[in-house]
Amino acid sequence: MNRILIIDYGSQYTQLIARRVREARVYCEIHPPTRTLEWIREWAPAGIILSGGPNSVYGTDVPTADAALLEIAPVLGICYGMQLIAHLEGGAVERAGRREYGRAELVVDEGEGLFAGFDVGEHTPVWMSHGDHVDTPPDGYRVVAHSANSPVAAFRHDTKPIYGVQFHPEVAHSPRGTEMIANFLFSVCKAQPTWTPGAFVDDHVRSIRERVGDRGVICGLSGGVDSSVAAALVHRAVGEQLTCIFVDTGLLRLHERDQVERTFRQHLGIKLVVIDAADRFLDALEGISDPEQKRRVIGHTFIDVFEDAAASVGENVDFLVQGTLYPDVIESVSPSGGPSVTIKTHHNVGGLKPDMKFELIEPLRELFKDEVRNVGRELGLPEEMVGRHPFPGPGLAIRILGDVSRESVQVLQRADAIYLEEIREAGLYDDIWQAFAVLLPVRSVGVMGDERTYDNVVALRAVTSTDGMTADWFAYPPDVLGRMSNRIINEVDGVNRVVYDVSSKPPATIEWE
Ligand code: XMP
Repeated sequence: MNRILIIDYGSQYTQLIARRVREARVYCEIHPPTRTLEWIREWAPAGIILSGGPNSVYGTDVPTADAALLEIAPVLGICYGMQLIAHLEGGAVERAGRREYGRAELVVDEGEGLFAGFDVGEHTPVWMSHGDHVDTPPDGYRVVAHSANSPVAAFRHDTKPIYGVQFHPEVAHSPRGTEMIANFLFSVCKAQPTWTPGAFVDDHVRSIRERVGDRGVICGLSGGVDSSVAAALVHRAVGEQLTCIFVDTGLLRLHERDQVERTFRQHLGIKLVVIDAADRFLDALEGISDPEQKRRVIGHTFIDVFEDAAASVGENVDFLVQGTLYPDVIESVSPSGGPSVTIKTHHNVGGLKPDMKFELIEPLRELFKDEVRNVGRELGLPEEMVGRHPFPGPGLAIRILGDVSRESVQVLQRADAIYLEEIREAGLYDDIWQAFAVLLPVRSVGVMGDERTYDNVVALRAVTSTDGMTADWFAYPPDVLGRMSNRIINEVDGVNRVVYDVSSKPPATIEWE
């Protein structure tokens, strides 16, 4: 089969390997080292990549592999994966006398295979991050690249398609790593670059149609990218049999409901039920200031409202669409490398009750966020929807610190809308992972005209990130920040001060609550 198996030995870069393979338009999946040889043979990979990991091959209870794995398909071992190959093949791995971390100059010793397109003796920067290393290749293997600190920075088997690299070709700090990965995929594994958004849409339209037959499907739309793309895809497959339900919680951004209605009902012709539940949510939130309590109240209210709406859609509805993504379903190895394997599950609809009678359709389970966006584009979703920043399920309730009232929602909606308008105006929206305004529960003294004011403080937040797990604050040009602040203070009644949040995650989080 035309797909690559990535075995995860616990590296922080494993998902990055998968991204690079898919960017080369080859489908791949990440699996734990506990998969059996039989399972792997049946999965029929065109090639296998062994990821890096934090362990030493000589450690106790460390994840390993059966040497027979090396016979199933071409193999590329990265860092720990390379040491594992050396270990399985009877070679010696040096324990960490010295650690090597950071940029290194790789010198190519053989301009073919992994290094096709490189000249012998050519230097190229690569990223090293390892303790243990291989000093001499196992019998039957030869060195194909070295660096000052790593005499065996890359090796290959004399006759079989087995490669190992000590460095990380998948990270941006290895600028020509993409070429090396492409060499592995196309020259060594003979994979075909067929993983495209168009092929994905065709495949899934066909399989969803088959599975659903003439039955009904519902989908909870949040206005976010994932549920929108999932809905558009299922709509392409089953058309009128899909009904989308959009719950207006009263905690959305300004004009968000209109925008969702316009896009889905008018632009895409999708059957849409809009439930105005603002009063239910805001009443339920009254007097609640604890962030987790807010989440619980919103979650429960959401389930009640959604289930009522779903029940009213019709008799023949058997399926529920959810926008679960690949990072939510990868079985990850524990950092200690032990056998404990956890499966993360995540439901965008907010944890519906287990006794719900629906079968799930999760058409995006195989995709990373950027791939979801490309599928959205392929389906004709407008850029304003596909390129949107993430928005949390509990909405503005966790951006109004402390008690949430109708008035505070309005103040924050207006400040937030101006903030986002100015970001777009400055052409910075796509450089930012997520940006929003926060209403603080403090008042400060100001002066407007000749009047003393005692009003709210709005904090602005903007971060860059690749997955929301870590984030850096975004450095706006000062004049852009100045315009944002001026406009918010002048145009939003009740706000007399704007501050900018310069905290990274960790130790802060992206949201304030
Ligand atoms: P934090 O604040 O944990 O946020 O750094 C990371 C990402 O998750 C989003 N977020 C949520 N999304 N329900 C959601 O659906 C929630 O309760 C929730 N809390 C945080 C946040 O917006 C950011 O993208």
